[in-house]
Amino acid sequence: MDDLVDRAAATAQRAGAVSTADPGSDQGSGPGSDQSPDEGPVRLELLPMTAEVNGEGSLAVGGVELLELAERFGTPLFVYDEEHLRARCREAVAAWGDGVAYATKAFLCLAMARLVHEEGMWLDVSTGGELHVALAAGVPAARLVLHGNNKSDGELARALGSGVGRIVVDSFDEIERLARLVPLSSTTTDRRQAVMIRVTPGIEAHTHDFVRTGQEDSKFGFGLASGAAADAVTCVRALPGLDLVGIHAHIGSQVFRVDSFAEEVEVLAGFFAPLGLPELCVGGGLGVPYVATETAPSIAQWAETVHRACRGAGIPADTVITAEPGRSIAASAGITLYRVGTIKELPGLRTYVAVDGGMSDNPRPVLYGSGYEAFLPRAAAAARPKAARVVGKHCESGDIVVADARLPGDVVVGDVVATPVTGAYGYSMASNYNKVPRPAVVFVANGEARVVVRRETDDDLTRLDG
Ligand code: LLP
Repeated sequence: MDDLVDRAAATAQRAGAVSTADPGSDQGSGPGSDQSPDEGPVRLELLPMTAEVNGEGSLAVGGVELLELAERFGTPLFVYDEEHLRARCREAVAAWGDGVAYATKAFLCLAMARLVHEEGMWLDVSTGGELHVALAAGVPAARLVLHGNNKSDGELARALGSGVGRIVVDSFDEIERLARLVPLSSTTTDRRQAVMIRVTPGIEAHTHDFVRTGQEDSKFGFGLASGAAADAVTCVRALPGLDLVGIHAHIGSQVFRVDSFAEEVEVLAGFFAPLGLPELCVGGGLGVPYVATETAPSIAQWAETVHRACRGAGIPADTVITAEPGRSIAASAGITLYRVGTIKELPGLRTYVAVDGGMSDNPRPVLYGSGYEAFLPRAAAAARPKAARVVGKHCESGDIVVADARLPGDVVVGDVVATPVTGAYGYSMASNYNKVPRPAVVFVANGEARVVVRRETDDDLTRLDG
């Protein structure tokens, strides 16, 4: 994160862009007027690391102008900065060591699976579908971790047959299934399947806060307090085809306070240490800033906090401590580009700026009330005095892209609007609601753009119909 911030500051300096209000480039309020900080240009810290504002004020990522990408590939369009993705993977490997896994649910396609594998991370897959994509990308099964609270016989058989590196066992039903399936697979592969047990530590992390739930009310894993986790250890150890290598826990997502992870370690330590197991995985969950008012620890700071907590809690020094970041790898590497189709000024109420996507490419605002920022790539260094609500094209009032956006005063129909930090849980949760085809995804690097997922066509919308 530090290098990202430094890079963004350097870019801002080079381009004359500013990360707070810049009265000189103000397009709405008069000279000398007070500009609140959120009327300033989009903060470069929210943009991918290779983002650069050129002399005319337009934004390039990976050496390619965003406006050019919108022209060439159409909108909506997911744009990923490949260098940013690679940098975050490398940071994760440097901080956690071998075994750290990318949580593919954040964003997965063949190119992403290959990139993450090339950079030395394992891949966490939580369904047969994610497993299929990772294997199709050529990632060795030995570097995959299979998750899921309700793995089917088929998913488990495929995982066992392909030889995934770890299966994270989540329920007693699953242990029974494994007891049935492992002998079948081991006759052909003659190997013991390495498994971890997912434990619910009774901690629920929230965005800015965390609470102990006490009652461990979760569909995931085995509760510590109830004794279920200890029983699971006994059951798994009794199965000769399984090799229990460690304990896994995951406390939540978009966690800004690394103290939550230290708390997780403290709760787990008393259970974990006496088991004498070689591995402990603390899950994913590190938060990222989506809007200018947020800040988050870096992957390195997260790992350091967990390592310190492990030492303090008496976890043996030779334990392999791992994690599964998803969002913190992919989120701020991605930007979504939309085209403005209509602008409605409702006097005394608000301005609606409608774009050609919406809840089908980013359901997070609808699902979680998530906040985003918006800016115009043609004027990335311009002030944004105009308050507007950026909405999509779906048939629901809740179809909001950015509830409280700030835009330059001269935004017009036909403009390209960008929302930063859409690289995680955007495309991966996209749908065809209203039969809107899903956008294309491009990776940009060194002045080149390549389509890694093509745009859906109208024909794709009927390809499953009988
Ligand atoms: N490991 C496990 C077992 C998980 O369940 C998850 C996320 C992760 C790792 C990765 O967590 P991350 O580092 O990405 O926070 N759709 C929601 C996020 C759901 C996360 C589910 N599990 C969103 O858009 O915010």
